[in-house]
Amino acid sequence: MLAGWCLTACIQQEQPLAAMIDAALDNATQQSLRMATDRQLLDNNDLLPRSFENGKLITSNSRWWCSGFFAGVLWYLYENNPQTQLLEQAQRYTARVQAEQYNTGTHDLGFMLYCSFGNGLRLTGNTDYRDVLLNGAKSLSQRFNPTIGLIKSWDNNKWQYPVIIDNMMNLELLFWAARESGDTTFRNICVSHADRTTREHLRPDFSSYHVVGYDTVSAEAYTKQTHQGYADMSAWSRGQAWGLYGYTVMYRETKDARYLDVAKNIANFILTHPNMPDDGIPFWDFDAPYIPDEPRDASAGAIICSALIELSRYVDHSLAKQYLRVAEKQLRTLASSAYTAQPNENGNFILMHGIGALPHNSEVDVPLTYADYYFVEALMRFKTLLNE
Ligand code: GLY
Repeated sequence: MLAGWCLTACIQQEQPLAAMIDAALDNATQQSLRMATDRQLLDNNDLLPRSFENGKLITSNSRWWCSGFFAGVLWYLYENNPQTQLLEQAQRYTARVQAEQYNTGTHDLGFMLYCSFGNGLRLTGNTDYRDVLLNGAKSLSQRFNPTIGLIKSWDNNKWQYPVIIDNMMNLELLFWAARESGDTTFRNICVSHADRTTREHLRPDFSSYHVVGYDTVSAEAYTKQTHQGYADMSAWSRGQAWGLYGYTVMYRETKDARYLDVAKNIANFILTHPNMPDDGIPFWDFDAPYIPDEPRDASAGAIICSALIELSRYVDHSLAKQYLRVAEKQLRTLASSAYTAQPNENGNFILMHGIGALPHNSEVDVPLTYADYYFVEALMRFKTLLNE
């Protein structure tokens, strides 16, 4: 069995990168079209795929933070292969997220709307999508408190004003809105949010805390904790991935060298960490206690991979080569049978072995829509690089 796996992996290792990417995109297209035409999803206009556990498709409605990722996967696959079937399915699953444009109860509107409507607008120019995105940006901006200087992540009773590192990912929607509307308020929110996040979330080694709680009277940070990681002081892998991606976007949008420095330092933390496996897919937390007997998180691997490909554009040649070597290794690992599901299996999700929230025993070693989304994005980004 092991010998058989090695043989498969070794053969894939020898495939030229461009061919490997095309094969992975082709497989992703077939899996995603099967998912899109799943009876349960077709028959319920409110449902979106979320995961697959114990042989059952797990769905969500549009309020779940991941509601926009499947539409985003379909848009990238349509970009790669502009066939009507993909366009129609991308439109179908994008429309299901539309109600969230007026949701002021979460910070996740960037994930929900920019991955779905944002990619849809980019590829079709549909002005209805533009309106949804602008409404979404206005809704998200309502969560910004100018005294604290941050967008509030969650509404719950555990923290007065919690902000999570993941929130860096929602800024891309606001940068777009600033450009599109000419209203610099959106951009100012991003800069303020990123600057205070740099001060409060990042540690001296450029790993990050997951949650920082702020006092609503003094505006001071009163607690630094984890919610999904192993410990308050540990480096939860997906949190590190969100930080890397988020500061890369900050540099793309502002060209401010401070953000590039942060992104490079986060990359350095991740890539030189003694617990980073050779194949580039991290354990679910860099400080998980039983490494190497801990589960990996394919989603963190895919997010880091996509971010490194973009970051490689902004750094000197030798660092760019280093980032792309890692990204290639990550893509090959994720595209191998160790992570990519067989056709028709895994509930028609592309990747296996994601971790949602291990400390809560929620979504452990399962497919996740965001692992698929950032994997397909990374494939497309590397393909674009190769074509250039
Ligand atoms: N933003 C939630 C997560 O990464 O699990």
